[in-house]
Amino acid sequence: MRADGTGRGGGGSTLQAEAPVPPLAGGEPILQVRGLVKHYPLTQGILFKKQIGAVKAVDGVDFDLAAGETLGIVGESGCGKSTVAKMLVHLEPPTEGAILYKGQDVTKLSGRALKAVRRNIQMVFQDPYTSLNPRMTVGDIIGEPYEIHPEVAPKGSRRQRVRDLLDVVGLNPEYINRYPHQFSGGQRQRIGIARGLALNPEIIVADEPVSALDVSVQAQVVNLLDRLQAEFDLSFVFIAHDLSIVRHISDRVGVMYLGRIMEIGTDAEIYDHPTHPYTQALLSAVPVPDPTARDHRERIILHGDVPSPANIPSGCRFRTRCWKAQERCELEVPLLAVPAVFRDTATPARHDSACHFAEEKRVVPPEGLLETPEPADAPPPRGEGEGEERGESEGRGESEGRGGPE
Ligand SMILES: Nc1ncnc2c1ncn2[C@@H]1O[C@H](COP(=O)(O)OP(=O)(O)OP(=O)(O)O)[C@@H](O)[C@H]1O
Ligand code: SF4
Ligand SMILES: [Mg+2]
Repeated sequence: MRADGTGRGGGGSTLQAEAPVPPLAGGEPILQVRGLVKHYPLTQGILFKKQIGAVKAVDGVDFDLAAGETLGIVGESGCGKSTVAKMLVHLEPPTEGAILYKGQDVTKLSGRALKAVRRNIQMVFQDPYTSLNPRMTVGDIIGEPYEIHPEVAPKGSRRQRVRDLLDVVGLNPEYINRYPHQFSGGQRQRIGIARGLALNPEIIVADEPVSALDVSVQAQVVNLLDRLQAEFDLSFVFIAHDLSIVRHISDRVGVMYLGRIMEIGTDAEIYDHPTHPYTQALLSAVPVPDPTARDHRERIILHGDVPSPANIPSGCRFRTRCWKAQERCELEVPLLAVPAVFRDTATPARHDSACHFAEEKRVVPPEGLLETPEPADAPPPRGEGEGEERGESEGRGESEGRGGPE
């Protein structure tokens, strides 16, 4: 974790000789999200559009991101993960709420101040097939952000910077003039990551960065992100619906349901000591490779569909699917806080959980039994060729060169 906010990474790459970053006040999170809301209006009528409701995609999200940490965000499809991501990188304006970057509310900034902050919060997208412009070379794609931020890389140095970035993400710098279609899915995602790193950001918001990839390649990309975090001292918001991958990469995890965070804590608190029924249900569906452990774990089947975000249930929004729901759950919105029952304890169950009747229930076997990506071998010395991180076979035989195009 960056303690004083100065300098980034300790390696010898030219990429790290970058603009100084203002220091954080002691212990202050790099990012604080407060009461974040995104409602999309539902309208009726062709000429005179009348608002008849709203899709409450994000409906009051709060979290902190410490410098150098990875916060995983999990939840079923449609719960608002991507909408949160888009607001963090300023692709969508929030309806309400604040996004504080080093104490400054980004939602209130404009002009040069906003541009400076945006440079420091970059996004890696889910789909490496559609997020890269097929008519641009890899060099132009990765170097494009320098058109908006020429101060990061003066014109004469850009090609070399892009080559360095290709090298950093395990691709051959010689392929700078190739096009995206000449690369495999995993390699394209590496190009997306290189582009995300181009402006030397402090925060990367990765929205399902490996979900579109072949399972055999997912671990390699996750390991690459892990390595880059250490090398460039990055803070990550890592969004995914695969709980095993999220555990592998995250320091803390937030579980979202219908536009809100239901439970948040360290990975051990959430995976080994979940107290919210929704988290417990999600975890009970995680694949367990060990057959003995599989036979002994409890599977919680949720009944009913996720309600429409345009028609959120009163009280606890999870109550229509919760097997523990009682009258209070219909009347009173549970706050995301340490439940009263755990407040005076020192157990790992003492973490934020939005449930009136929070109870600890371990539903998955100890960490070792979860399916997680293969541990990364140390990357091979430069120039050695095909290591786990420096190229991908993607089922096409052993060697593909250093991440070269197909
Ligand atoms: N521009 C929009 N207009 C109206 N509704 C939207 C818009 N964008 C998203 N939504 C709705 O907001 C809700 C949250 O969408 P979002 O894409 O954030 O979910 P998600 O958690 O990322 O899902 P997934 O796991 O499938 O990617 C969904 O119901 C979606 O249909
Ligand atoms: S508040 Fe009630 S409905 Fe909501 S999760 Fe807790 S027990 Fe279930
Ligand atoms: Mg999404």
